[in-house]
Amino acid sequence: MYKRTHQNIHDWYQQYGRLDLPWRNTDEAYYIYLSEVMLQQTQVKTVLERYYIPFIERFPSLKLLGEAPLDDVLKMWEGLGYYNRAKNLHKTATLVDQLPNNIDELIRLPGIGKNTAHAVAAFAFHLPVPIMEANVKRILCRLQKLLKPSEKKLWEIAYEMLDRVRPFDYNQAMMDIGATICLPRNPKCDICPLNDICKGQEEPALYPTKKKRIVPTREENILVRVYNDKLALNQRKGKFLHGLWGFKSVDVPNCASEYIGEVTHAYTHFKLICKVYVYYENNPEETDYFTEQEIQKLAISKVDEKIVKLFLATM
Ligand code: ADE
Repeated sequence: MYKRTHQNIHDWYQQYGRLDLPWRNTDEAYYIYLSEVMLQQTQVKTVLERYYIPFIERFPSLKLLGEAPLDDVLKMWEGLGYYNRAKNLHKTATLVDQLPNNIDELIRLPGIGKNTAHAVAAFAFHLPVPIMEANVKRILCRLQKLLKPSEKKLWEIAYEMLDRVRPFDYNQAMMDIGATICLPRNPKCDICPLNDICKGQEEPALYPTKKKRIVPTREENILVRVYNDKLALNQRKGKFLHGLWGFKSVDVPNCASEYIGEVTHAYTHFKLICKVYVYYENNPEETDYFTEQEIQKLAISKVDEKIVKLFLATM
């Protein structure tokens, strides 16, 4: 039924696809799995420029990743955000030396949901299964003029459309079409290889319906304790940013502390505003104090990095 479409997609991919992405030129399942995890919430450009290759150089196999301390893994992940991805990757590496080559088993591993399991199955094991990510969803919605389809409906369409002869190229191509042609705003329908079957091209921006997201603001008072020119950092125990080193937040800043400014950071579910206070201690009240150089070796979050910068700028 989609024979001509598959040919169009294939021809387009050969000419315009991002064929040279490193995770498209390896048979190593672990590297492909790693790329999928990194790309879950992060742009290709960021992953390519700063994270994918250094991570593989530092942890060349799943086995070596599993044997490494979690702190080292978090350090390599620093700045990428969504640190649970790194923790789950590490957890998976402690459980298996090799990834299973089927969706049912992949999905049982930590951090591997339906989408990632399909992507690993399609890209690492060349199985005839479709992939589903935000760009692909947008294409499917526009093709069929769907405003707010259920996940079930989207997977049905994805399975129906899949090129079972060349699933690897087809899936990579769908991702590239989503990233370069079927853009959220001003899609390039005139040069799209799917334009002969797309029902949504009159008003593509209508599909799918945009969710209006209202993100709450969370405000925290951060106390930077300084002793002997070193800063007190603690390894976070709570759910938020667990495992990363950071400054403590306090309900009421100590009255001898000095307010030095504010840093903000936008997370997916909330905006964090940190009011930063500095307190110079005469006696150390914390257990771990670090110099600027030592802090550089710790895995810390973006907000804490901003706090360090603010502190250094006001010294
Ligand atoms: N995002 C998720 N998987 C990807 C892939 N294989 N290529 C480009 N972007 C992606």
